[in-house]
Amino acid sequence: MELRDAIRSSGAVRQFTDEEVPLSKVHAVLDDARFAASGSNRQPWRVAVVEDTKIRESMLELMQPTWDEWIAAAGIYETPFNAIDYVTPTEITPNIPNGMLAEIATIPVVLAVAADLRRIAMMDNGFERPPMTGGASIYPFCWNLLLSARAHGLGGVMTTFLSRAEAEAQPLLGLPEHHALVATIFLGVPVHQPTKLKRLPVESFATLNRFDGPPLEA
Ligand SMILES: Cc1cc2nc3c(=O)[nH]c(=O)nc-3n(C[C@H](O)[C@H](O)[C@H](O)COP(=O)(O)O)c2cc1C
Repeated sequence: MELRDAIRSSGAVRQFTDEEVPLSKVHAVLDDARFAASGSNRQPWRVAVVEDTKIRESMLELMQPTWDEWIAAAGIYETPFNAIDYVTPTEITPNIPNGMLAEIATIPVVLAVAADLRRIAMMDNGFERPPMTGGASIYPFCWNLLLSARAHGLGGVMTTFLSRAEAEAQPLLGLPEHHALVATIFLGVPVHQPTKLKRLPVESFATLNRFDGPPLEA
């Protein structure tokens, strides 16, 4: 597939056929993903390929409250969990079904991705706002992984539900000290691969010289 087509058409996949994905294919996907950029090439990624059903079900238990909170908050905030003005809603209905999470035991591939914080230069650490730059050393790896999965006939989605429960997930997954649980990625053969993606046009986010400059036109 042509690179630009892949970039423009790799939508999130949350439903998978029951076709098994061999570990050799997961290895091949990770073997591509590792070529991602990271600050000073420190490659801070760690990946747990979670096959054990009991661990997966425990992951679901930890993710469920975040999904419930998301649903409760989605009607109140444009972006639930945003770091600027988010406050946990007072009323949260528990155990709201989530189609993908309900299938966690049988999703072909479940990957927990962690980042070693000692290997990330966090340039905006210590600011009054939460740090952001460190993510740039790990999420390109996650995105490479998803693009490579597509090239291997797979689809998938990056999620961060479990990151909310990092403290509880730490003993479950054996997350090493000083590591952040940055994503849980689900992969499999897509029931349907969305390719027509809704994204805002360049003029809506790119400006000349300054962020308050005129829109960058084609
Ligand atoms: C950092 C990040 C976190 C995400 N977390 C979740 C999640 O917790 N659950 C989920 O279903 N999708 C999650 N997604 C997938 C996004 O919802 C999806 O990429 C976005 O809606 C665009 O979908 P599309 O590419 O199909 O248009 C996440 C994506 C990113 C990049």
